[in-house]
Amino acid sequence: MKQKIGLLGFGTVGRGISEILRDKKDYLNKKYGFEYDIVAVADFAFGNVYNPNGLDIPLMLEQAGNKEKFTKDLTNMETLDLVKNSNVSVWCELTFTDLNTGGPAIDHVKTALSAGKHVVTSNKGPAALLYPEMKKLADENGVKFMIEGTVCAGTPVINLTDGPLAGCEISKISGILNGTTNYMLTEMEKGMSYDEVLKIAQEKGYAEADPTGDVEGYDARGKVTILANIVMDAGIKITDVPCQGITNITPDDIDFAKKQGKRWKLIGSVEKRDGKIHTSVAPEMVDVSHPLAGVMGATNALTFATDMLGDVTIVGPGAGKIETGFSILTDLLYVHRNS
Ligand code: HSE
Repeated sequence: MKQKIGLLGFGTVGRGISEILRDKKDYLNKKYGFEYDIVAVADFAFGNVYNPNGLDIPLMLEQAGNKEKFTKDLTNMETLDLVKNSNVSVWCELTFTDLNTGGPAIDHVKTALSAGKHVVTSNKGPAALLYPEMKKLADENGVKFMIEGTVCAGTPVINLTDGPLAGCEISKISGILNGTTNYMLTEMEKGMSYDEVLKIAQEKGYAEADPTGDVEGYDARGKVTILANIVMDAGIKITDVPCQGITNITPDDIDFAKKQGKRWKLIGSVEKRDGKIHTSVAPEMVDVSHPLAGVMGATNALTFATDMLGDVTIVGPGAGKIETGFSILTDLLYVHRNS
């Protein structure tokens, strides 16, 4: 079946997946029999567009790149109307993350799932705040709710624990979960100032729309919550996770660590111990010989402590346009192969 894809949000990730789908059409068809059209896009800055037979994606990428509004296939349908009443079979929810209210993504996801449309998302709001409810709604409507991109961008984490690692009991997950702060700490160690490097992280598309979420550790806290609830059935709320970011780390702190043969890393962890779930997000000084010390830039690394394999570590990109766009592709392919 040809998938009719809709995008909610045409920012960094929306454009990333659009470029991938534009460039890999023949490969994805030949290799996986995956056929698709992008038929709807809703974006508060560029406008809502709909063409049941497929949109002009190259034109839209050009217009968005020039910060111009869309001009072709404009529709008067409001976003939730489009979500419900278009021929879209799978919606990609790619609007900005709001970890306080989850909005507007939660409304988008609920409306799509209730209308019997699959949802694929890298938005941490619905996954961190309401995963069990969203999953139940998806199951009741016979559709998928896929969230690989919410943790470590396209580097496989959620699908890894659900797929290849299924059957292993995981007692601890810990590591570097935020690309922006790891990039900042890497560059600050080389002498760049906090403000300067944060600006570059925003330009590179690593940081959240509101970068407070990155530097205060809230983004990593959302990811810890998602992992705790999905992998360990912890049933915790995001506010249960003690959280400290990197805003208090000064150039003196970085020098202090360096002199001791150490390096600062923002570490997120969730551990099942003594029948309880322990979680945290905090900066730690790790020895330069520690495996996480060598993980630099916007890279993420997560170690899973398992009962049958011991430690399994995955290292890969944690942020970025194509890197997060890939997480959407991998979930779209899952939907294609399993529905
Ligand atoms: N702002 C996030 C990060 C993006 O830097 O890790 C990926 O979730």
